[in-house]
Amino acid sequence: MLKALLPGLRRRYDVGLVICNAENSAGGVGVNEKSAKQLFEIGADALTLGNHAYRHKDVYEYLDREPRIVRPLNFAAGNPGRGSTVIEAAGKRVGVVNLSGQVHLNVARNPFMAIDAELEKLEADVVVVDFHAEVTSEKVAMGWYLDGRVAAVLGTHTHVPTADGRVLPGGTGFISDVGMTGSRTSVLGVKPEQVLSVVLTNAALDDHGPVECLAVEGQQHFMVDNRLPEGGEDGGLLGIVAGKQEFDGWLAFDLS
Ligand SMILES: [Fe+2]
Repeated sequence: MLKALLPGLRRRYDVGLVICNAENSAGGVGVNEKSAKQLFEIGADALTLGNHAYRHKDVYEYLDREPRIVRPLNFAAGNPGRGSTVIEAAGKRVGVVNLSGQVHLNVARNPFMAIDAELEKLEADVVVVDFHAEVTSEKVAMGWYLDGRVAAVLGTHTHVPTADGRVLPGGTGFISDVGMTGSRTSVLGVKPEQVLSVVLTNAALDDHGPVECLAVEGQQHFMVDNRLPEGGEDGGLLGIVAGKQEFDGWLAFDLS
């Protein structure tokens, strides 16, 4: 779907920089070298990740080797990959930072403190932050925290686009979540019947493994592998197009 639509979108909006969150690009969960390379070939300039960054072990070495892909900065410092990168785009040095929220997600460091330290040493003209977080309150707080200090704070992870895209007073473009690209006949990319089988039985949901139905200490335990990696006939592409205009040294994003 991205392959079919991205080149046209790039031309239509005269896009100078494309950042894709790739954390579920490998068959619907995680990322691998093949799926990352496909996104670069399609036209992505940089890739961000999230809580599924390390789902496939064979990608670890690639994360160390490929400078255009970033995993959450506030993971443990010794983990594979990097939390930020600087790429050339639209004639500028663009810093791309991936951050993970700390509410309902496992991180090694507070994302607010982690981004402070990173911005001090990042040698970039503008910075775009993918804040991969679970709750909108934490995302909105990050937007205000970084207002005027970065070009944009773009939320990911919840797969559902939010209607709060705006330019904050300091010039930073913000949206709580840009949404996902994938099947619309799904629950966040998982077959509806599979999710319903879980929620209707109050069974535990685990998305890390093949389809199984196990008895775990008397509780039904469903494991999901029926992610829908391809959009199929009902696929949808979601994201934002941020128009650029010079704003006091930053790139201000018009999200209208
Ligand atoms: Fe995620």
